[in-house]
Amino acid sequence: MAELIDHPCVQHKLAIIRAADTGHKRFRELSTEITKFVCYEALKNIKTKQVTVETPVAAASCRKIDTDIVVIPILRAGVGMLEGILELVPTARVGFVGLYRDEVTKLPVTYYERYPPQIEGGTCIVIDPMLATGGSTAAAIDLLKAKGADNVVVVCIVTCPEGIELVESAHPDVRIYAAAIDEKLNEKKYIVPGLGDAGDRLFGTSH
Ligand code: PRP
Ligand code: URA
Repeated sequence: MAELIDHPCVQHKLAIIRAADTGHKRFRELSTEITKFVCYEALKNIKTKQVTVETPVAAASCRKIDTDIVVIPILRAGVGMLEGILELVPTARVGFVGLYRDEVTKLPVTYYERYPPQIEGGTCIVIDPMLATGGSTAAAIDLLKAKGADNVVVVCIVTCPEGIELVESAHPDVRIYAAAIDEKLNEKKYIVPGLGDAGDRLFGTSH
């Protein structure tokens, strides 16, 4: 299931990050800012436990997070979302999965994997700004599940119906949170209107 974060603060930032004339410095800042909002929503259902805290006045019944949170950016563009989620959950652990889309087949190729053991039993948050065909995200979830993860959430900035469908059919247990669900993919499997090549725009590697 996919959830759109349709809040005006998110949508305003999305309008700026999409613009072709937004440079890599601003693109990175906006990626962090948008991620924080989307992750805030994505974490609303995580496990908590009841605790009692002594305030200066009396005992208060409170809730604390009761799960190990492991953030897994898909290299490279997922790194652009890492700061945003770590601002929200500074104690989160971080694993990495390196995947790139083959330029001809558009299928994901895995080149790196390194995870903390807490992916087993914890809550895994896969981050990647673009969920296009969904191939990279579905492959990352396959890899995590193969290592014992059984509670995975996906956070992206922009996705589209094709990508959501692929991830949902491969992993019906995984919830997707996005700042935008765009219209479609073009012939190059880019999201339309999307925001272009997120990795290049984040890291200034185009032109
Ligand atoms: C981009 C993006 C996703 C993937 C999305 O990465 O960051 O990982 O494409 O496409 P998909 O849903 O069709 O799989 P890319 O392969 O360009 O690698 P990069 O992050 O290293 O630039
Ligand atoms: N990867 C990107 O960076 N952008 C797209 O639109 C699709 C895949």
